Amino acid sequence: MTQTKATIVSGMRPTGPLHLGHYFGVLENWLNFQKEYKCYFFVADWHALTTEYNNPQKVKNFISELVKDWLAVGLDPKKCILFIQSQIKPHAELHLILSMLTPLGWLERNPTYKEVKHELAAKNLNTYGFLGYPVLMASDILIYRPNYVPVGEDQLPHLELTREIARRFNFLYGNTFPEPQAKLTEASRLPGLDGRKMSKSYNNSIYLSEDFSSVQKKIMSMLTDTNRKRKSDPGDPARCNLYPYHRLLTPTQIREEIKENCTQAKWGCVDCKKILLSNLEKLLIPIHEKRKQLDNNPSLIEEILDQGNKLALETAERTMSLVREKINFI
Ligand code: TRP
Repeated sequence: MTQTKATIVSGMRPTGPLHLGHYFGVLENWLNFQKEYKCYFFVADWHALTTEYNNPQKVKNFISELVKDWLAVGLDPKKCILFIQSQIKPHAELHLILSMLTPLGWLERNPTYKEVKHELAAKNLNTYGFLGYPVLMASDILIYRPNYVPVGEDQLPHLELTREIARRFNFLYGNTFPEPQAKLTEASRLPGLDGRKMSKSYNNSIYLSEDFSSVQKKIMSMLTDTNRKRKSDPGDPARCNLYPYHRLLTPTQIREEIKENCTQAKWGCVDCKKILLSNLEKLLIPIHEKRKQLDNNPSLIEEILDQGNKLALETAERTMSLVREKINFI
């Protein structure tokens, strides 16, 4: 018996190059999902416009960079559908219809909305589009009628809203949208070089496309356990910025060895950094090689996206026909 695979939808905003925090927080999961689910992964360029509306060119330029990062880490267009949100116009039509039935209160009390608006006060986010962001996100999701949506914790309120909007649509016009479940991804398991959250704005990131020589410099100048002044002082991995990196990149047995030699003052921090670098190299060099191939073959990205857009559009059109039928706007 052939069983249809469960469907997953997720998107990323094209606002900058991806870093190791994205790799361990999001992409690693996507790589696993593509093995067992029907996946729709898209570049959320309209979403990026909600905060970057004064600089659309910047958004545009990051689109192919983002797709290159995806392909370089191993997302496989034969296994998942990769596409660009703004190329699938039915997202906008569904957004319009869903906006009719979404009560303002649901949007106004969304905690992410309040937080981001406050954080980015300088950007003037007093816009209709920014308030309606979760309705657009609901459209992105519901138009593929998925079972699951992998999101970080900050996006959970948005997904809850998507479910509420789906329920309301179903109540008003008859059962149309399954309520998608969140697949919660552990947020940023990898801190930045300074121990804070890895983020472009903190200047503490290692980018997936960054030259390895630059990665080496960054790791070599990282602060470790600041109580450890000399190699002969015992170190404490719990106080070290580097150790969380070993947790993700170094096999358990070697990690235990590192811990022992650090706390017994047998190995210095440079020894420890060298082990990490060799593991980072194993992860990053194949990514860089794949990226180089993509840089040398720009028409390949175009073909991949054309194909992904086509497949996404087919599903989106099918859902829209159903929606138009339900509201009797045929
Ligand atoms: N809101 C998400 C973010 O800021 C991006 C996004 C847009 C998304 N539409 C989506 C994620 C649909 C999952 C599903 O990162």
